[in-house]
Amino acid sequence: MLTGMPPRDRLIRSAEGRDAGAIGAIYDEAIATGVATFAQGPHAAAEREEWLDGRGGRAPVWVLDDGAVVAWSALAPFSHRPWYDGVAEYTVYVHRDAQGRGVGGQMLDHLISQAPALGYWKLVGMILEGNEPGLALATGRGFRVVGTHRSHGRVGRDWRDVTVVERHLGEGA
Ligand SMILES: CC(C)(COP(=O)(O)OP(=O)(O)OC[C@H]1O[C@@H](n2cnc3c(N)ncnc32)[C@H](O)[C@@H]1OP(=O)(O)O)[C@@H](O)C(=O)NCCC(=O)NCCS
Repeated sequence: MLTGMPPRDRLIRSAEGRDAGAIGAIYDEAIATGVATFAQGPHAAAEREEWLDGRGGRAPVWVLDDGAVVAWSALAPFSHRPWYDGVAEYTVYVHRDAQGRGVGGQMLDHLISQAPALGYWKLVGMILEGNEPGLALATGRGFRVVGTHRSHGRVGRDWRDVTVVERHLGEGA
């Protein structure tokens, strides 16, 4: 697993079909916490492989592979409207056993460094109520809290607020 050696940046690579199982497992584990996402599982390898195949060049997925995939990250266009073309929503998921050791920060730093070359001038994150690590990850990297949508969606039957965070990049900064 993780060796903790710097720089671990070189362990981050584009996700491939063979990563689909690990990506789905990390995703499902986070879904089970009830505070990471509104998405519902399970995500079998075949389903995640199809998901990976369907992503365009401006919606990349990366993994941190330290012999095993311990984290994945992604960017996706924030909106289909052309005037929001430079805004991306980010996603970072770290395997439970690898959390709290700087991996999430490393993945988000990587997204911040890659996004401008993809034409993005801003990253936006949507943090569900109760997701303290998710909020700390963003604010620790200079994201500003825009505000909180009240009861923005449901996890099961429970309404959840969603806090929006943003950070300008490159020319937008
Ligand atoms: C959010 C997540 C990606 C953080 O990953 P991680 O590897 O544990 O994060 P790091 O160790 O790099 O820590 C990032 C920051 O969060 C803080 N943090 C970590 N765990 C925390 C906790 N339980 N409570 C409060 N802050 C916490 C760290 O102190 C650090 O702050 P700093 O950058 O100011 O030093 C991880 O918890 C996760 O995968 N959660 C499920 C998916 C999710 O919610 N993703 C976020 C929305 S996209």
